[in-house]
Amino acid sequence: MIKVDISNVWGQLALPDLLAMEKEVAAAHTTLTDGTGAGNDFLGWLNLPVREATEEITRIQKAAKKIRSDSDVFVVIGIGGSYLGPRAAIELLQGPNHNIGKGKGNPQIFFAGNGLSTRHWNELTRLLEGKDFSIAIISKSGTTTEPAIATRALRWMLERKYGTDGAKSRIYAITDPCKGALRQMATEEGWETFIIPPNVGGRFSVLTPVGLLPMAVAGIDIMEVMNGAMDAKEAYDLRSFENPVWQYAAVRNLLYRNGKALEIFESFEPGFKMFGGWWQQLFGESEGKDGKGIFPATAELTADLHSLGQMIQQGERNLFETMVRFDAPQTKYTIGSDWKNLDGLNYLEGRTLDFVDEKAFLGTVAAHVDGGVPVITMDVGELNDRKVGELFYFLELSCGVSAYILGVNPFNQPGVELYKRNMFRLLGKPGYEK
Ligand code: PA5
Repeated sequence: MIKVDISNVWGQLALPDLLAMEKEVAAAHTTLTDGTGAGNDFLGWLNLPVREATEEITRIQKAAKKIRSDSDVFVVIGIGGSYLGPRAAIELLQGPNHNIGKGKGNPQIFFAGNGLSTRHWNELTRLLEGKDFSIAIISKSGTTTEPAIATRALRWMLERKYGTDGAKSRIYAITDPCKGALRQMATEEGWETFIIPPNVGGRFSVLTPVGLLPMAVAGIDIMEVMNGAMDAKEAYDLRSFENPVWQYAAVRNLLYRNGKALEIFESFEPGFKMFGGWWQQLFGESEGKDGKGIFPATAELTADLHSLGQMIQQGERNLFETMVRFDAPQTKYTIGSDWKNLDGLNYLEGRTLDFVDEKAFLGTVAAHVDGGVPVITMDVGELNDRKVGELFYFLELSCGVSAYILGVNPFNQPGVELYKRNMFRLLGKPGYEK
């Protein structure tokens, strides 16, 4: 089980206030699992975890095997919920530099269609020069502008390189089973397709082919991810304050009611950055509506202690932190002795980097708590495929419960649509003139 430590919030909150929330949290949890709340037609994610490979998971594994054997590079096209989950998992498990030294057998994975930068596009086309590649097009609606532009361009590149038929066997579409332009295109062109269930919203889709195909291509054991998610589904159904989901969801709401309107989600692992991005979308899009919501920020420690640290320590007292911890890896780095000791580091001789990291963590928590910043700690344990599945589900469940406590519909995103409509109008898309 993921352990949530709330002992560092008591300077700001009182235990009786938390315990007084018991009925409220229980009601939010039941509303979610009984499907009686707002947005209840988007609860398909609750039942995605499985212990046995489904027909679709077997197809994903087969496609991943083919891509790994015939491609130097796999380009994943998608944005928002159709992009952040797989990138988060791959970078957390394999590190931010995971592409270095990869090629056929274990392809590099690049992401496209998650912005409109020409520089990014030019860089991608340079990276693809002379390489065998395949693409996954991920879009639930099938009409989002950024991935649609990248799709058109990459598809043509494939067709020029391999011919129409050759390209066909290198294009995978992940989309709605019936609706949308991408579904229609995939059917007409004969691409292999995988389904995003209509009752699973983008930001809750990491355990569908959206996350599973890129993870499998990266060499992640997707059944282990699913097993971890199933572990979470079973373990976190507990209806009491012993449930870490309750602790996290209730404490962050209580902090919000006490003026803490900003949460910094952070870790001491550089590979966690994109996971923070996934969490940011999950909580930001789910809770930020009706004039309410905790602003979800992220930070990388210790790096950001040298930039944001000042703000956290002494800036406006409207924030709290959630620190995610993982067990130290088996392979250690031990600090050696230098006879001149000009850097004054000999006092650490024989100590491991983990030891220093642990002290940095403890020192940071103590300093921030002293500065009036409540700190929640999430101890995940070992960092492996299974735990990542557990963490995804744990946070999705926490988000659903938390948003119902907050009193908002966790499963819509009306604000995102406004920007899309404005952009269509400015671009002159037919039907969006007004
Ligand atoms: O969570 C969401 O709904 C959004 O972030 C979408 O995933 C994002 O806008 C991409 O949409 P689509 O998958 O339809 O291209």
